[in-house]
Amino acid sequence: MKLTKDIREKILHNMFVENYKRMWPYMKPFWFRALLSVLVAIPVGSLDAVIALSLKPYMDVVMIDKNLQTAWYIPLMIIGFTIVQGVLRYMAEYLNTWVGAKTTNLLKLDLYKKMLAFETEFFNKKNSGDVIFMFNNNAEMACSGLLNNLKSFVQKFFTAISLIAVLFYNSWQLALVCVAIMLLSMMPMTLVRKKINSIMNQTIVADSALLTAYNETYNGNKTIISYNLDGNQRNKFERVLDGVFHLRMKMLQRTRWLTPVMHVILSVGIGLAIWFGSYLILHGIITAGSFVSFLTALIMLYTPIKSIGGTYNSVLMSFLAIERVFDILDAKPAITDNPGARDMSGDIHEIEFKNVNFEYTPGVPVLRDINFRVKRGETIAFVGNSGGGKSTVVSLLPRFYDVTSGAVLIDGVDVRNITLKSLRANIGVVFQDNFLFSGTIRENIMMGNENATADDLERAVKMACLDDFIKTIPGGLDAQIGERGVLLSGGQKQRVAIARAFLKNAPILVLDEATSALDNKSEAVVQRAIENLMRDKTVFVIAHRLSTIKNANKIMVINQGVVVESGTHEELLQNENGAYKALYDMQFKTDKRVK
Ligand SMILES: Nc1ncnc2c1ncn2[C@@H]1O[C@H](COP(=O)(O)OP(=O)(O)OP(=O)(O)O)[C@@H](O)[C@H]1O
Ligand SMILES: [Mg+2]
Repeated sequence: MKLTKDIREKILHNMFVENYKRMWPYMKPFWFRALLSVLVAIPVGSLDAVIALSLKPYMDVVMIDKNLQTAWYIPLMIIGFTIVQGVLRYMAEYLNTWVGAKTTNLLKLDLYKKMLAFETEFFNKKNSGDVIFMFNNNAEMACSGLLNNLKSFVQKFFTAISLIAVLFYNSWQLALVCVAIMLLSMMPMTLVRKKINSIMNQTIVADSALLTAYNETYNGNKTIISYNLDGNQRNKFERVLDGVFHLRMKMLQRTRWLTPVMHVILSVGIGLAIWFGSYLILHGIITAGSFVSFLTALIMLYTPIKSIGGTYNSVLMSFLAIERVFDILDAKPAITDNPGARDMSGDIHEIEFKNVNFEYTPGVPVLRDINFRVKRGETIAFVGNSGGGKSTVVSLLPRFYDVTSGAVLIDGVDVRNITLKSLRANIGVVFQDNFLFSGTIRENIMMGNENATADDLERAVKMACLDDFIKTIPGGLDAQIGERGVLLSGGQKQRVAIARAFLKNAPILVLDEATSALDNKSEAVVQRAIENLMRDKTVFVIAHRLSTIKNANKIMVINQGVVVESGTHEELLQNENGAYKALYDMQFKTDKRVK
């Protein structure tokens, strides 16, 4: 029992030291104000004792000796001290909030930087709610407790110390009894920490689920409406709410007994003090003034001591949040520059996929032994069944994911030995589902290249066949497109993304279904534009419409993660029983039927 208590205290001590040490860099720039806010808490705490202390002369001199002069200055003194205390209290609060908010911002900024550094897979595995909780709420919880709690702790500690001094000043015998009882009342505090950790973690999961539900309702509202899922969603949401409620009550059961138990022990102490005090007065050991002053101090002690329990709880909560924050900050993103990684130049001669195998989930191969070479200026096309692995192949080039084995080489250099910044600067990508940012069309296109001139922009708009559309809408290029570009049609969004890639003008181009959302006419135009752009570029293109890739230098047919055929359009059509021929025939028939 003794040993476990020692260990527990040691852990507690380490936790305090460790957590403050880790948070120090975030508070360091504001150390002076932080220190000041804690120092100011000392007089704020101590001045509480003045009222109690002044009651002794008031009772003894005014009430018993009938000295009226003292009757004047004691109330004035109390008011004066209270004013000083009020000003200091405001100062402490102000400094505290200031430092707290600044610290939170620094921490959030660091967390956000970390968030930007995480790889695609990190986000694939998490719900949006978890991410918001991890990066935002945790930081707030971590910081809110840090200084504020320290300040309250210091303030309450000094209130307690000075009131205890008043106790001893008035009667050491009585004081000893009371201090003993007080120490007894604090013992249950050591029992709380372990109990709240697991509930905290469950609460976080539940709170994150709420955030995810809001986010999904926002993003999926059309699906919800069209499938009449509102009842469904509501039930799901209610279950999560119920869970949160349960956890909150459980947390309360495990922590909030602390304060009432301390209360009861303290009231026993007060009862004892009154009884013992009366005895001391009756035997002439202490004066009536001392006793009143003593009792006042004792009753005033009640508040700080009982709330130390609550403060202790919040300190623990913020420490747990700090631990979670640093778990994130310490985590190493899976996709980073190799040591010694070098910048690549835009002057590329050959890209090679060499024995590439890839799994998203360990043990589930998605790509098997992919081999090909693409020379500068060539176009390689990928076709095949849905889910076959086409998007996966091209996502290995800009290192959204790393190969499981084998290598992706650019001029013989493994992409893992090229800096991510330069690698990605040299690859323009148009995705299957393009993300547009809220803002204007211009802003979204300019993201391709911040330094593009007005002429470049105009050319990109023209190349992406956006010029006619832009002429017809109010605001033109400066029209707002809403969050994720919701105010644009699918095809328009696609073309904004294409224009963005045009403007980037990178030597390597990855087009994943880039023309799928365009009508036949625009598709033909975009096709021409892409051909212009391709002239000097190395292009990886994925398209279901075979007409778009007829001219590719090489076509790879990928089914179930394996290259089943490769060659030029003409070569592949020669193979009567080939997969490409089958795809081609199927599409040719549908096209004819449509026409
Ligand atoms: N993040 C992921 N985690 C786990 N599995 C994934 C992930 N993304 C894709 N997959 C799986 O990998 C396989 C290949 O997917 P991929 O998106 O590359 O197919 P695709 O050929 O581009 O299909 P489509 O023509 O429909 O776009 C699929 O079986 C898919 O379910
Ligand atoms: Mg795909």
